Amino acid sequence: MNIGIIGYGKMGKEIFSLFFDKLPDANFRIYDIAPSEKNTADVLKTLGKSLKRKKITEEQYESKKDSFLFTDSISDMKDCDIVIEAIFEDVKVKQDTFRQLAETVSENCLLLTNTSTLKISDVFEGIPHRERCFGLHFFYPVKLSGYVELNILPDSAPEAVAKAKALVEAGGKRPVVLEGCYHIYLNQLLSCMVGHAIIMKDMAGVSVKEMNKALAPLFSLAPPFDILDSVGVGLMGKSPENFNIPRCRQLQDKCYEVLQKWTAEGCPQGPLAFLDHMAENEADTGNSCENAEIDMMAYLLNETVNTLEDYSGDKEVLFEAVCDTLGLAEKASYYYNEFGADALFSALDKYKEATGFTSYDHKDKTVWDGYLG
Ligand SMILES: NC(=O)c1ccc[n+]([C@@H]2O[C@H](COP(=O)([O-])OP(=O)(O)OC[C@H]3O[C@@H](n4cnc5c(N)ncnc54)[C@H](O)[C@@H]3O)[C@@H](O)[C@H]2O)c1
Repeated sequence: MNIGIIGYGKMGKEIFSLFFDKLPDANFRIYDIAPSEKNTADVLKTLGKSLKRKKITEEQYESKKDSFLFTDSISDMKDCDIVIEAIFEDVKVKQDTFRQLAETVSENCLLLTNTSTLKISDVFEGIPHRERCFGLHFFYPVKLSGYVELNILPDSAPEAVAKAKALVEAGGKRPVVLEGCYHIYLNQLLSCMVGHAIIMKDMAGVSVKEMNKALAPLFSLAPPFDILDSVGVGLMGKSPENFNIPRCRQLQDKCYEVLQKWTAEGCPQGPLAFLDHMAENEADTGNSCENAEIDMMAYLLNETVNTLEDYSGDKEVLFEAVCDTLGLAEKASYYYNEFGADALFSALDKYKEATGFTSYDHKDKTVWDGYLG
């Protein structure tokens, strides 16, 4: 199989590395307009280390060292069976590149975009054979996430989707198929969670640091404001205009509005700067965060149940992907039993009354019992 990667930046590098490690028989073509001579040397150096540590044999080393090509010429992509695009977030540049690519590759070559925020159908505007065009969205860091989203379009052909799923599975990940307003759902979920944490912080009258600390026991790795810190206010604060789940609209707008405000007040946009900035600019209050865990869990369980109710694909896979993305310290059902439906519903009612947001509307207990009981 010939795999093409377009754009060898933060994500392109990770996607290449995943498949290069996992697919011994594949060939790779990596196209970038700003290729670095160092790229080839770096891959060869890593291969050399793997050989030295006996992770690969001499024979594997010889075949792998000739299995990839970095290029700035799109014609080198002509024999690709699958191309994954990871150019920076600009719809025009992505469209132009896919147009050139479609003239180069065969009509059976899958054309996939890793976009996190753009409308998938816009990225493929004017591309012939739309049945092979859709989104394939990886999380950063790729190695730490068990799931990859297939953001498919109404025209996507079942054979093309099956081919992309097989690729994801060969890379050791589980595919989650998403359609329509649920495109890039796991990112939408994270921005809603941050939006809810902002509302919680405001209602409790505490600092970011205080609320984050109170929420930390719920998460095995990173509470909400740590996630915002690692993604960066710039990326998470991009306009949510292409996030279209009606229920989530107000919460996403709230998150966007506050991140814009923090940016205007001088918060750096890049990763790993938000928490330091807030610690320097926002004093702790000593106010209570005693309901933080139940208030956060009420929102997360509600969002999960509402999504599972809407979803027509494999609900079990989606449920596991949601839990994996949130990085909860315990299973979702543990929190449901621990806090109890009555207390979780009254937390949701409190936020509904304060904000009017539809995110806090909930189904009745029998529905929750079906997923979480
Ligand atoms: N950064 C993340 O955490 C993350 C996570 C998931 C998905 N994504 C998505 O992945 C995509 C890439 O993001 P990134 O953070 O890796 O970007 P990046 O800026 O790190 O890398 C983009 C790369 O594309 C190259 N490039 C620019 N114009 C090009 C062109 N016309 N043709 C070929 N290559 C070109 C650049 O030289 C650069 O190497 C975006 O769509 C983004 O939304 C990003």
